Amino acid sequence: MTDTKATPKSANSMWGGRFAAGPDAIMEAINASISFDQRLYAQDIAGSRAHAAMLAQQGIISSNDAEAIRKGLLTVLSEIEAGNFPFSTALEDIHMNVESRLKEIIGEPAGRLHTARSRNDQVATDFRLWVRDQTDAAITAIEALQRAFLGQAEAGANWVMPGFTHMQTAQPVTWGHHMLAYVEMLGRDASRFRDARVRMNESPLGAAALAGTSFPIDRHMTAAALGFDRPAANSLDAVADRDFALEFLTASSICAMHLSRFAEELVIWSSAQFRFARLSDRFSTGSSIMPQKRNPDAAELLRAKIGRILGATVALFTVMKGLPLTYSKDMQEDKEQVFDAADTLMLSLAAMTGMVQDLTANREILAASAASGFSTATDLADWLVRSLNLPFRDAHHVTGALVALAEKKGCDLPDLTLAEMHQGHPGITQEVYSVLGVENSVRSRTSYGGTAPDQVRAQVSRWKGILG
Ligand code: ARG
Repeated sequence: MTDTKATPKSANSMWGGRFAAGPDAIMEAINASISFDQRLYAQDIAGSRAHAAMLAQQGIISSNDAEAIRKGLLTVLSEIEAGNFPFSTALEDIHMNVESRLKEIIGEPAGRLHTARSRNDQVATDFRLWVRDQTDAAITAIEALQRAFLGQAEAGANWVMPGFTHMQTAQPVTWGHHMLAYVEMLGRDASRFRDARVRMNESPLGAAALAGTSFPIDRHMTAAALGFDRPAANSLDAVADRDFALEFLTASSICAMHLSRFAEELVIWSSAQFRFARLSDRFSTGSSIMPQKRNPDAAELLRAKIGRILGATVALFTVMKGLPLTYSKDMQEDKEQVFDAADTLMLSLAAMTGMVQDLTANREILAASAASGFSTATDLADWLVRSLNLPFRDAHHVTGALVALAEKKGCDLPDLTLAEMHQGHPGITQEVYSVLGVENSVRSRTSYGGTAPDQVRAQVSRWKGILG
């Protein structure tokens, strides 16, 4: 709907009082933001309604004018929502598009709406409201993903799998424990968005261009009407601040980084070499040339999305860096980055939720893999400490020698005979074999936050309580 070819012959009717001619076409092209900031229409109209109601209450405009403005804005809103609003590039941005249309609909009172206001506090208000909505949506979507991980954790509280460090077999862990690690990460992500929301929830409206206004406005009234906790206390800061957008982006980046880590695990786990887990046909794609393939495309894309979100974050930091107070047009570059990052995050969270719900663990392969790679070597060392009172460093040494022996024989630790065990340490008894099994290994890790199934179940119920 955006009219891109317009090269106005006359000056802008919104601010062109001192201009004899309209802008060059290329000036208009670089200056206009309507192609993207039309996304702020609902917030812009909500801000204008709150402002007009306040102006009337304070006796700054008549209540008749305020009523005409209110009705007119509702008409504008319905036109935009019906998709028949004539967005114009010549009118630059959403603020002037809405106001100009309001004037066509209601005439003279429309010109009173901009009393004690500037596009600087207007855009700061609109954008904050938009980012606040997205923050709420992100929290809801993160919680949905946490519930999906929690479902996996509950089902697989006692399924054993290998735990890795350096991508090398380290110790057996439980599937549920692994899933709960992501529930924790996502819990921090949600809390970052919650914290950011508290800080962003101050109203810039009424800061006007930068210095406040001589009109007797009531900023507390507009702040309350828009759901803000309070008006921002410094008008310069109110129009110059984009911290709320940066915090949204940084919280989004950290969350996307977490998604990328699980995405990578899904890629590895679903490979023919690992086969730890399987994504159904709903989340896999085939190859046009290699019929055997099931590609984890969605996981690969989720692994990549962080690049885009972090890119937006770096872009906005770079835009804001070094900007003198207060508003500069540079700041118009804030929106596309945040829009794209928010869309990407929401899509990523939804896709990951679908994949986690869809994921089937291959329990036999996980258990077999958990038992390989000398994964219970630490259990053997711990047994030597506990039963033979060896210092841990000595126990580590003895275990190392037994691992080397098993490696030479081409077997696993539990396959060594007692006589072979004695080559490591003569005090070793038959009892040692009980700690070399993976089931016993995970069951023994009962320290708080450990991988034992009982610990996992306790954490699952704690999170169920939190998530409701
Ligand atoms: N389209 C502008 C933006 O997104 C709105 C604010 C313009 N203010 C100004 N003084 N030109 O930042």
